[in-house]
Amino acid sequence: MTKLEQIRAAESRLLLTTYDRNPILFVKGEGVYLEDEKGARYLDLLSGIGVNALGYGHPVIEEAIAKQSRALIHISNLYYHEGQAELALRLTERTGLDRAFFCNSGTEAWEGALKLARAYAGLRRSEGAQTGTTIGTKFLALEQSFHGRTFGSVSTTYKAKYREPFGPVVPGVEFVRFNDVNDLRAKFSNEVCAILVEAIQGEGGIRPLTQEFFAEARALANSTGALLIVDEIQAGMGRTGKWCGYQHYGIQPDITTLAKPLAGGLPLGAVLCTEEVARVMHAGMHGTTFGGGPLACAVAIAVIDTIEKDGLLAHATETGDYFQQQLRSLAKCHESIVDVRGKGLMLAAEVDSAELGKLVVAEMLKRRILINCTSDTVLRFLPPFIVEKVHVDKAIAALDEIFTEQAGHTAPVAAVPSAGGHERG
Ligand SMILES: Cc1ncc(COP(=O)(O)O)c(C=O)c1O
Repeated sequence: MTKLEQIRAAESRLLLTTYDRNPILFVKGEGVYLEDEKGARYLDLLSGIGVNALGYGHPVIEEAIAKQSRALIHISNLYYHEGQAELALRLTERTGLDRAFFCNSGTEAWEGALKLARAYAGLRRSEGAQTGTTIGTKFLALEQSFHGRTFGSVSTTYKAKYREPFGPVVPGVEFVRFNDVNDLRAKFSNEVCAILVEAIQGEGGIRPLTQEFFAEARALANSTGALLIVDEIQAGMGRTGKWCGYQHYGIQPDITTLAKPLAGGLPLGAVLCTEEVARVMHAGMHGTTFGGGPLACAVAIAVIDTIEKDGLLAHATETGDYFQQQLRSLAKCHESIVDVRGKGLMLAAEVDSAELGKLVVAEMLKRRILINCTSDTVLRFLPPFIVEKVHVDKAIAALDEIFTEQAGHTAPVAAVPSAGGHERG
């Protein structure tokens, strides 16, 4: 039995069957490559589902972990350490919000945002006793949304398969048709305490909000004092070429959530909000044992500083534009690619069947390139921010070969011109 076979047998006996893993055993990584136990290298265009922004084995992350772990790993939130305020300063400056709360994951950040919105609505109601203002407790979420797996998050997540086995879920959530301004207007009322969106839906298939829909959500929220909450867990921290997806629209939320790439691979989430919303919180209302610990904060600070120092926002824009343009050229040659969309390094090529989506991911894996397929038909690319054009070329050539084979041709037909040059290192 190989080591991988032993692990698969043990996991199938010992773990809950929540994951359908690919049969690969990764043992290390460097840059944009992962290495399996036999020494085979894989180009990673998924980065741990949008987490490993600086790739693998980045010296800045290694150094931050080494330095901070020698000093202090955990102290709880009963005491001060240097990291939280320093990280909060960086995040508030970059998101345009005023205050932060740190937790451990995306779903936990989203739970925090939902709780903050309900508590704030409660505050508004109590103040409204004097002013006559009324505001309800309802959330408007979007069709195809994904916000996580804990109860509040899953209740605001659209797809029934994530919610229904666990019913009854948290009540008070209504779903609005994606980018449908009329449906949003029809469902919005004084009963709504918050409108919940992703600027670019991730799991839902890399679908950007339209400017019109996003602006209407902001305007409706303003009209009653409801909140606009933007989930930036997948799109945020520079993946789209700006710190947050909403910055492409010039629209400012009342609350946003970050996680995934925030601490370069360590678990860390953040809720950020305005001073106005923050006034509802008082000591003891919300909290966490691990959240915002010294180690995760030190690494997140190092990640942000590196993104800035190495110009990775501009790099994400440039490499992402190139990637998208190459995918578009590919789509012109292969009619089974029905759409290409996304922003920066958050990209998708939609194919015409779920069967083909699955097959392309498997064929890419055979060629040692990692991507995935979301919403059945959407090939998703979330590479590390350090990805280069040469890696993009490699992926495009492999895709060209796969789509050509599928269409029954013998040689690649796309002949997509590449500008990537040679791979460094
Ligand atoms: C937009 C969005 N929100 C929330 C989550 C949940 O994050 P986590 O898996 O860290 O709980 C995800 C995860 O994919 C996500 O993409």
